[in-house]
Amino acid sequence: MTATVQTTEELRTPRGPLFGLPHLLRLRRQPISHNDFLRASYGEVIKLNVFGTTLHACYGLDAAEQILINRNRDFANGPAWSHFIGPFFHRGLMLLDFDEHLHHRRILQMAFTNDAMRRYHAVMVPHIRSGLEQWASVPNPRMHELFKALTLDLALETFVGVDLPRAEQDRVNKAFIAAVRAGTSIVRRNVPGTPWARGLTARKELEAFFYEHLPAKRRDGGDDLFAQLCIATSEDGDVFSDEDVVNHMIFLLMAAHDTSTITMSSMAYHLARYPEWQEKARAASMETGDDYDSVVGNELLERIMKESLRLCSPVPSMPRVAVRDTAVNGYLIKEGSFVAVSPFYNHHDPQYWPDPTHFDPDRFAEPRREDHGHRMAFHAFGGGVHKCIGMYFAGVQVRAIFHELLRTYSWSVPAGYTWPLDLVALPFPRDRLPVTLERL
Ligand code: HEM
Repeated sequence: MTATVQTTEELRTPRGPLFGLPHLLRLRRQPISHNDFLRASYGEVIKLNVFGTTLHACYGLDAAEQILINRNRDFANGPAWSHFIGPFFHRGLMLLDFDEHLHHRRILQMAFTNDAMRRYHAVMVPHIRSGLEQWASVPNPRMHELFKALTLDLALETFVGVDLPRAEQDRVNKAFIAAVRAGTSIVRRNVPGTPWARGLTARKELEAFFYEHLPAKRRDGGDDLFAQLCIATSEDGDVFSDEDVVNHMIFLLMAAHDTSTITMSSMAYHLARYPEWQEKARAASMETGDDYDSVVGNELLERIMKESLRLCSPVPSMPRVAVRDTAVNGYLIKEGSFVAVSPFYNHHDPQYWPDPTHFDPDRFAEPRREDHGHRMAFHAFGGGVHKCIGMYFAGVQVRAIFHELLRTYSWSVPAGYTWPLDLVALPFPRDRLPVTLERL
């Protein structure tokens, strides 16, 4: 629904508390209960003023549908996401808008075909096995750290596909981590010694790295994502320039890394808290063959992944900026305003997800299919034209890792343990999820 359907006078003006910052801070600690409180106090679209910027939190699935499907192109991604990560990830797909975005997405799509997935899977499996092999000797294992390291190593193989000495690998990984961290810097200017400044240096290092290896990739090709971007050609015959390849590579590494790590940490956490589900998952993986079709066809793992994503959505909130006066759920949104859709919050709505805090992968099984209750019931991967392009890649990688993990180890947490989630930026367990890990 937009302002062209309802006149501006008929629309409600969003309300909110006088000072936004204390609420923003509380939302980081209590994202569900405090959002419930704000929604009950001020309505379906609320206004928070923080450091001179007005944010509109838009609750519920109808608002999510209006904003993400964005039928009238009222909302833009670029100005919204650039505010948080622009200097480090500029010209990444998620930061482009409208026709330019579609043009790039069509070319990028060619690196995510079914055939490409099979090739990425073949590249990653030996590295998953050797990576997991080393877990047995890790003292005081913390699942979040282990997944992070494994995902970084896999990214070098499946994304970059360049043979590097260990020191060079570490340098690239370090630059990449610095670029990712920079987005959460409190000081948002190039002040020496701050994460922001380190992020800017890291961006330059990553650009230099990809430009150095690009000519060989264009010449020799390969099964990795970097080579696929070099050769990707849309149905209309369009290809990426060198600059495009570099910008997309840096963004893709970022988009894939923390999201996959958090997903797997959430799966490991819930499978440790609900050991009966870990046993079921192990039995299913033991019965499953090692080939691509069997691993990707493991429906129980798919349901466990979705339920873990529902309970802890790695991208907790998706921002947009209104490019003209418009409306969400009958509330006036003025041109230039920030709006945000929160899958993390919406996925706990008891109207669609009964007993929402309970881990129950069968919600996603027939006949319940709670994810079919609304077009946007499950939007951990977003929706509309910006819906995650790496969704299938993530599914393949996560399933390939859990297939091997469940067959190699069992893990547990002490009775009564609850993971301390940090929600300042993307969610992660502050204690990195310590577990008792036993080789089978
Ligand atoms: C479980 C893991 C993942 C989750 C939960 C996730 C989530 C998301 C979400 C919510 C968006 C939409 C953001 C918005 O609309 O503002 C998105 C976009 C995107 N994701 Fe993912 N993602 C995951 C893994 C990946 C992977 C593995 C890749 C790459 C291989 C990737 C690449 C991208 C890209 C390029 C976009 C931008 C798409 C566009 O704007 O057209 N993601 N992701």
